[in-house]
Amino acid sequence: MADTDVAGETDDTVASAATDPAPLFAARNVSVRFGGVQALSDVSLEIAPRQVLAVIGPNGAGKTTLFNVVCGFVTPSAGELWLRGRRLRRLRPHQLAGLGIARTLQGLGLFDRMSVLENVMVGADRHARAGFLAGFVGIGRGPTDDRDLEARSRNILGELGIADYAHRYPSSLPYPVRKRVALARALVAEPELLLLDEPASGLSAEEMHELGELIRGLAEHTSVMLVEHHMDLVMTVSDHITVLDFGKVIASGSPADVRTDPAVLAAYLGEDVEQHTSEEHTHGYIEEVR
Ligand SMILES: Nc1ncnc2c1ncn2[C@@H]1O[C@H](COP(=O)(O)OP(=O)(O)OP(=O)(O)O)[C@@H](O)[C@H]1O
Ligand SMILES: [Mg+2]
Repeated sequence: MADTDVAGETDDTVASAATDPAPLFAARNVSVRFGGVQALSDVSLEIAPRQVLAVIGPNGAGKTTLFNVVCGFVTPSAGELWLRGRRLRRLRPHQLAGLGIARTLQGLGLFDRMSVLENVMVGADRHARAGFLAGFVGIGRGPTDDRDLEARSRNILGELGIADYAHRYPSSLPYPVRKRVALARALVAEPELLLLDEPASGLSAEEMHELGELIRGLAEHTSVMLVEHHMDLVMTVSDHITVLDFGKVIASGSPADVRTDPAVLAAYLGEDVEQHTSEEHTHGYIEEVR
């Protein structure tokens, strides 16, 4: 909880009363600039425990940049990141597992010469190596030996419905199964915050429906931040949606609120002719947001 420090990566600032109850994760007034491009301007969001937060927005809105900020891949030029009521001075990708954060990336990153089971165990192994830090911040429930690790990995494969593939190699498996393997690998680290970058890409409607149920199930234990283009999935699984456009938060609220928000409709449909006229900007969204 908030009375721990993360190996010099946090300062002594205590969460203000305004954050009570403290969100699991918060970005406050984050800005990111790439050369002449203001990818994010003054973006704030909060992820509560066991909440599914979706980040949506038209092409180039800054979604991936925000995801990368939360992963530590991109360091904001301004703003603050908070975890469990403590400010993170600097977030780097190698710290994620120890901080209780796991992610899946769009490129699946599975090892083709390792079995599905071994691929999943690698995710836990990384967690185990960060064990001293994980224990320090009070989230270290990682396996301490290979038998635990294997049992836990098999258990997660079972929960994701892919136990039968444990001894297969990823390259021999259909894409949706490989996506589940990548998810299993993230979950075996027992994250408190799971970051999913376009998890629905390449899935059929039926698979997307299953993914939605899976995400809702995960949210019984874990917070989920989801960057996703498929509005059906976003509207079904999210507790809260943050909408970006041109690097700014233009709406933030429940799926019902966001669905009818004039600024969101304008951003997606190009109704605000002064700012949103480019065809590229609205490409791919018109069918999805009605
Ligand atoms: N490494 C980078 N260097 C320069 N500009 C970048 C970089 N990454 C992103 N940008 C720019 O920042 C803006 C936000 O990009 P970002 O990839 O975050 O958008 P996005 O919402 O993920 O878009 P998409 O829906 O197309 O994936 C865009 O104008 C993009 O061109
Ligand atoms: Mg993107």
